[in-house]
This record gives sequence, C-alpha cells and structure tokens, in this order.
Amino acid sequence: MTILKFSGEVAGFYQRYRRGYPAEVLDALVAEFGLTAEDVALDLGCGTGQLTLPLAGRTRAVVGMDPEPDMLAQARKAATGITNATWLVGADTDVPALEALLGKEKLGVVTIGQALHWMDRDTLFPALRSLVRPGGGVAVITNGAPMWQHDSPWSKALREYLSGWLGKPLVRTFGAEQEEQDRYRASLEAAGFTAGETVVEYEDEIDFDHVIGAVYSATPEDLLPKPHERAEFEKRLSVAVSPHAPFVEPVRVRILTARRG
Ligand SMILES: C[S@@+](CC[C@H](N)C(=O)[O-])C[C@H]1O[C@@H](n2cnc3c(N)ncnc32)[C@H](O)[C@@H]1O
Repeated sequence: MTILKFSGEVAGFYQRYRRGYPAEVLDALVAEFGLTAEDVALDLGCGTGQLTLPLAGRTRAVVGMDPEPDMLAQARKAATGITNATWLVGADTDVPALEALLGKEKLGVVTIGQALHWMDRDTLFPALRSLVRPGGGVAVITNGAPMWQHDSPWSKALREYLSGWLGKPLVRTFGAEQEEQDRYRASLEAAGFTAGETVVEYEDEIDFDHVIGAVYSATPEDLLPKPHERAEFEKRLSVAVSPHAPFVEPVRVRILTARRG
C-alpha cells in the first residue's frame, strides 16, 4: 500500500515551488507518439498538474489522476481557464478499470512524472498497453535530481545543512538512477512496448525563496519545521547557502518512452 506524503501543506508547497516541464519535453512527447488535437492523454500521479496542464494544450483532453486529494485540489486551482482537464482521485491500481470507462476510445499517451516508484509497474504496464492506441504509448519522466544532490558549492552547503537538521546524512544516490531506469525499461519491454529515451537538459537559476520552497515541497508534513520554527530554520539555511549564490541548477529531464507498435 502506498504511503502518501503529499497531503496538507506539502501540496501547496508542491504547487507553488516544484519545477514544471519546459516546452521541449512536450515537443518530445508530441513527436514520439504523434500526438494530435484528437488525442486523449492520461497523466498518472499527476500531483499538482506540472505535466497535466501543458498536456492540455497539446491534446483534445487530459485526465490528471492521483490518489492524494490535496494534490488534486491544488491542480484544479492551478487549471483556471483550462477547460479540457479532468481530475480523478485514483492510484495505479485503479488504472485497469479505465478500460471499461474508455470503451473503444484509446489514449495517445500516458505520462508518469516523478511517480513510478510508488506503483506496481509489473501490473500497471500490461494494463496501460491495452489502454493506448497503436503508435501511442507511455512516458516515464524524471525531472532532474533533487537540488541538494549536485556538485556545486551551494548544493553541497544545502546538503550539509539538511543533514544536520534531519540528524542523518543525506546520501547522494550515484548510479541508482540509471539502475532504476534500466529496471523500468525492462518492465516496459516485457509488457510489449518498444522503449527509447529522450533527454532535455538546461540550467535554471532560482532565488532563495525557491530553495526553501523546494525543500518544503519534498518534506513529508510530519518532518516539516513547525510553523513557529520556520523563521529560524530559514535564517540558518540562508546563512549556509547565501555565500554561494547565485543558485544555478543543472536540470536533466529524462523521458523514458515506450511505444505500442
Ligand atoms: C513527486 S509527485 C509528482 C507530481 C508530478 N507528476 C510531477 O511530475 O511533478 C508524485 C505524485 O505521485 C502520487 N502517487 C503516489 N502514489 C501513487 C500511486 N500508487 N498511483 C498514482 N499516483 C501516486 C502522489 O500522490 C504525488 O502526487
């Protein structure tokens, strides 16, 4: 059973501070799956709509599905003016039931951004294969590494500060990402998809407010500093990282594509 940690205040931080996806990522999805204005997309584990909202502009309709109602409430709020997005409370285990709902309609693409590790992919991928049209498929997307995992002096200072605050070292996960990608790819191929990869790389400069917001959005609610502790937490964080400004982050978006032949 999934342990959710995206409820309450964290959902608000996620919506406000989590990085979205640049147009190049959407362009890559359109090119890979031949998406047109006739297609319907499903964004599974949509969170606050980082991918759902730009997908709405590239398709006839998009469904954002997530088990955490607080994330969906934020997504819905952010979707003001977008009329072709539908929000569904549901997890990966609810996906097979969509087949009966969709009937003859097939999906152009199913996107899974930063969320697959909570899902049972060996059940999910075969179910998705029967939901997508030929030429369409699944995209598993990783939106860069956490900002405390880089080599830059400010990222290192952030890592040390957070380790001290959590009382345990924040370990860097060298190699783990590639092993995970390889496992995902093997599961997709076992489900009958043809897999490939597209990478979009860029640099983003963020302000201190976004450094704090990204930390809060990645912290389960019970581990967040209590409201009365936040001013002190943020002051100390500023002392640790500000000497290393500007906060430039390399962002490497990996799109693992799986096409149905
Ligand atoms: C890190 S957020 C990613 C949000 C967004 N897709 C993005 O790319 O930024 C992960 C989301 O996965 C959702 N999630 C967790 N377990 C899930 C499951 N079993 N099925 C579907 N979504 C799940 C969480 O509620 C959360 O909103």
